[in-house]
Amino acid sequence: MRLKDKVAIVTGAASGFGAGIVERFAAEGAKVVCADLNGEGAREVTARLKDAGGAAIGVEADVTSSEQVKAMVAAAVDTYGGLDVIVNNAGMPQRNQPMLDVDEETFDKIFEVNCKSLYLAAIHGVPVLRERGGGVMINTASTAGLRPRPGLVWYNGSKGGAISLTKSMAVELAADNIRVNALCPVAGDTPMLGEFLGGEVTNEMYAKFVDTVPLGRLSTPRDIANVSVFLASDEAEFLTGVCIEVDGGRCI
Ligand SMILES: NC(=O)c1ccc[n+]([C@@H]2O[C@H](COP(=O)([O-])OP(=O)(O)OC[C@H]3O[C@@H](n4cnc5c(N)ncnc54)[C@H](O)[C@@H]3O)[C@@H](O)[C@H]2O)c1
Repeated sequence: MRLKDKVAIVTGAASGFGAGIVERFAAEGAKVVCADLNGEGAREVTARLKDAGGAAIGVEADVTSSEQVKAMVAAAVDTYGGLDVIVNNAGMPQRNQPMLDVDEETFDKIFEVNCKSLYLAAIHGVPVLRERGGGVMINTASTAGLRPRPGLVWYNGSKGGAISLTKSMAVELAADNIRVNALCPVAGDTPMLGEFLGGEVTNEMYAKFVDTVPLGRLSTPRDIANVSVFLASDEAEFLTGVCIEVDGGRCI
């Protein structure tokens, strides 16, 4: 088991990539805190992990709330005695639309969920990782932050911010033996996909997007989970500040 007894928090665990990550983490022996704004969803995913023999708790937490992120970290420590891995995966999309059509409230929310969440995870999580003598942070960014396309300007910027924050934290936290890395998935068939493609996803839109991916398909929660397991494991002990494109070659 590649994550045996590691304690991991995964945000956005109730759906899509997050649900895939917690499933693989639990199967690899991690003790998982499944955190999500959708508390009921987080508890349902947790129940499935436990039915499959995994160790997990579900926590309702808004990653933009300092108080709730603090409580999420405390839940990991209180239940499992410490913390080794934080996966900042919860995210907020932008509907594909002209940049000037996005209102200020939506802009603020996108940056709060996609960037401020990393600040709060660091403020509350890093001291606990330090107590452990090191740890891992994994941030779900996006190909949008590396190869921005029109229609997603503010989302692209927030994921570019997440990539820059990943590298910045990596250099500062290396002395604490805390590795900070990011994943950059290409579009995946999760509830978010419709927003990225500008509404209801037609077969034609889907096929057109797939055509832009050299390996010929969208990303899956399993793809994201597999890379997350690697980054969280000791196999990645010399990797920090990297942003791995999980994109079937889309960014080439
Ligand atoms: N699906 C894609 O095409 C795609 C591509 C690249 C990157 N991403 C990124 O992957 C991550 C996961 O997205 P997904 O596709 O699995 O989406 P999803 O909609 O399936 O899941 C997102 C989860 O995050 C939770 N969430 C939203 N705001 C939250 C908050 N404030 N606090 C706590 N939880 C919150 C939601 O309740 C939901 O369960 C996001 O960061 C997203 O930006 C997605």
